[in-house]
Amino acid sequence: MSFHESVVYQIYPKSFRDTNGDGVGDLRGIIEKVDHIASLGVDLVWLNPFYPSPQRDNGYDVSDYCAIDPAMGTIADFEELVARLAEHGIGIMLDMVLNHTSTAHEWFQRALAGEQHYRDYYIIRSPRPDGSLPTSWGSKFGGPAWAPFGETSDYFLHLFDVTQADLDWRNPAVRQEMAKVVNFWRGKGVKAFRFDVINLIGKAAELVDGTPGTDGRDAYTDGPQVHEYLQELRRNSFGQDQDSVTVGEMSSTSIEACVGYSNPDNGELDMVFNFHHLKVDYANGQKWTLVPYDLAALKRILDEWAVGMQAGNGWNALFWNNHDQPRALDRFGDPVNFHAESATMLATVIHLLRGTPYVYMGEEIGMTDPEYTLMSDYVDVEAHNAYAELLATGESAERAFQIVHSKARDNARTPMQWDDGPTAGFTDGIPWLRPTNQDRINVAAEQDSERILGHYRRLIQLRKSEPLISEGRYESFDAGHEAVFGYLRTLQQRRLLVLANFRGEPAGVQIPPEYADGTLLIGNHDDAVVSREMTLRPYEALGIVVEP
Ligand code: GLC
Ligand code: CA
Repeated sequence: MSFHESVVYQIYPKSFRDTNGDGVGDLRGIIEKVDHIASLGVDLVWLNPFYPSPQRDNGYDVSDYCAIDPAMGTIADFEELVARLAEHGIGIMLDMVLNHTSTAHEWFQRALAGEQHYRDYYIIRSPRPDGSLPTSWGSKFGGPAWAPFGETSDYFLHLFDVTQADLDWRNPAVRQEMAKVVNFWRGKGVKAFRFDVINLIGKAAELVDGTPGTDGRDAYTDGPQVHEYLQELRRNSFGQDQDSVTVGEMSSTSIEACVGYSNPDNGELDMVFNFHHLKVDYANGQKWTLVPYDLAALKRILDEWAVGMQAGNGWNALFWNNHDQPRALDRFGDPVNFHAESATMLATVIHLLRGTPYVYMGEEIGMTDPEYTLMSDYVDVEAHNAYAELLATGESAERAFQIVHSKARDNARTPMQWDDGPTAGFTDGIPWLRPTNQDRINVAAEQDSERILGHYRRLIQLRKSEPLISEGRYESFDAGHEAVFGYLRTLQQRRLLVLANFRGEPAGVQIPPEYADGTLLIGNHDDAVVSREMTLRPYEALGIVVEP
């Protein structure tokens, strides 16, 4: 089966299920819930990092790539999980954090101790003649991207937290180590990989400031040699498996670059994540702001990427949610008045598009952002840095909190809500991050009503039974509509029209005559009637198919 027909389920292991009462999810917890995962009909499970780590960035600060954090489990647990999922035909997709290591990693420690070989693994530079930092780049988590390298007068680069040191991919020894890491996990039966911020590995030999007034990202993103490095990594590792599946996470990228990464002729990756559609509620491109989202921009971006990637024979990973994003249901839906309707509308839009859909744990039951009221509820370093910066720029404490509340990554990291108990069935101990609305939203309740869960199962099934969805051509439909996002998919003589009302009021749409005689393939209201002049109910979404 091709990855065009696949659906990936993303698990944040720390928050899925804790089996030993320490409040942190573990691999045995995932094993315990294999039946739930299998019941969705997904093909792959992407696990966020579970490697040994000081947890400064929740596991994206890796201190050993070829081991498992004891808090998460053992290699034996991992092997059991692989086997249990395989019984259901599900593979594992591992998260490879190859742009940087934790400063606690042995390589960085040996570099600090003065071993030149390991010093060359990292990006270390002297200050400029005037004593200022090597470049003006900012860390993506706030503050400058350079920190003093031990007791020396030099600085090391960290595009993320100060404990996440960027590796120098220009060094062939680094590239060999990275292929070895991928091959270690291939040896454990893993064939699918997600590469973290992989378009940042192609930094030039000479580092220069980016556009003035920005954090400098244009000076190192999608850099000159990234395609070459990916081709080499593929040849030396995952490319040796016929049925490997790979996805690259692309930070601040372009359609052109992503076509390059995912066009099969280039021999790089199968597909790419980009985030442009999730920046439509950023004021002036700034994340830590609070403005209503721009539906016209959302529609335009989804359409541009669908059209552009298709034209270049690239392939998109399709998603609304992940561990870095506030819940899409709170951003683009209405979890208060139209909880099930807006959750299923969003799912329909993504699952019928051209690309490979990803479902983030909890999305299948309509999980929302937590109802936190205090900064002390948040754990993420990024949220605390942002709060401090907002206060420093003169925002009131109340406003700063509201902004963090709307954008924090912890919004997605709260424990999976299995039942309505005090810890949502996540742990017998004290959860590392607190759940809040499990009395209303939980798996047990969804099993009974199936309003959202059932819709996800149907969508996932459809991708496998309908080549129109997995292989059809994409075309935009009624792009100017102010409430409805619509698109067409066609394969030979079969056609599909997808309509989704993004507003909490009814929306009229005129559909082309040939579709007025079509049949409903799927909808989030079971009594929808297809006609020439349709009125979509609040957050209604449907797919109408026309046979030749
Ligand atoms: C990616 C991860 C994010 C992490 C960052 C640095 O964006 O998804 O969680 O903080 O990379 O590794
Ligand atoms: Ca645990």
